[in-house]
Amino acid sequence: MLRLVDVTRRFGKNTAVDSVAIEVPQGQMVGVIGRSGAGKSTLLRMINRLIDPSEGSIFFDGSEVSALRGAALRSWQRDCAMIFQQFNLVPRLDVVSNVLHGTLNRRSTVATMFSMFPREDIEQAIDILDRLGIADHAPKRVETLSGGQQQRVAIARALMQDPRVILADEPIASLDPMNAQVVMDTLRRIHDEDGRMIVCNLHTLDTARRYCDRVVGMRDGVVVFDGAPEDLTTAVARDIYGADESFSESSTSTSIETLEPAYSFMREAEAAI
Ligand SMILES: Nc1ncnc2c1ncn2[C@@H]1O[C@H](COP(=O)(O)OP(=O)(O)OP(=O)(O)O)[C@@H](O)[C@H]1O
Ligand SMILES: [Mg+2]
Repeated sequence: MLRLVDVTRRFGKNTAVDSVAIEVPQGQMVGVIGRSGAGKSTLLRMINRLIDPSEGSIFFDGSEVSALRGAALRSWQRDCAMIFQQFNLVPRLDVVSNVLHGTLNRRSTVATMFSMFPREDIEQAIDILDRLGIADHAPKRVETLSGGQQQRVAIARALMQDPRVILADEPIASLDPMNAQVVMDTLRRIHDEDGRMIVCNLHTLDTARRYCDRVVGMRDGVVVFDGAPEDLTTAVARDIYGADESFSESSTSTSIETLEPAYSFMREAEAAI
């Protein structure tokens, strides 16, 4: 269970995140939505401790994440993998080496510099790539892959850490609808099969509704909605996005809805609604 207790982050006079209090049980996939500048990235970065809260505390399974230092902090950052909009891969390096960088924080810098990875790590990396349907690309340079494939490499690198939590900051914002769907399907599958908690910042409503168990809407650093996707009405969306009557959902759509679900579990999930 992840618990945020009145978490606030200020940048000078600007309050990016304002007294956020939420609890996320282990088996949940949460979408965080809101317009640009709402505080979504700042929230995720505090959970991972890339930045520190100005006030408040963050707990995970009873341990105070916001108070961790040194080795304990590094251990938390291994447990809590980040995925970014721009993939944050090394483009000129091959796919498998990029995935193996997920083990970086558990071995020496020198060993990593010379790509001295143990055989079992290499095998594990290939297995993960295989699971994500991109093992064929293992020897290729990352820069030769499509955006959707690159994001799956980034997910594979995150899985190499065997994280308990995956934080994804707009993982599909740079992708076309087809690739966006493959990446979101992949995250959902990891969540369903492995039971990993996923907190995913998303620009668009339809994606959050479709893939997440729960949606948190932020506006000006404040949580203004926290509930089930089906409770996210157009009126609520207007409130989150601070839009007027002319607000249309298509303005926040990625058109994933129009594509066929790639995995059968998506159809089952839809049938259950
Ligand atoms: N390092 C920083 N220094 C100063 N201000 C910052 C910093 N990071 C974020 N902010 C400010 O905090 C607020 C929230 O930013 P944040 O990046 O969290 O929003 P966001 O919801 O992720 O937006 P987007 O959808 O554009 O990614 C903004 O006003 C932003 O300018
Ligand atoms: Mg952001």
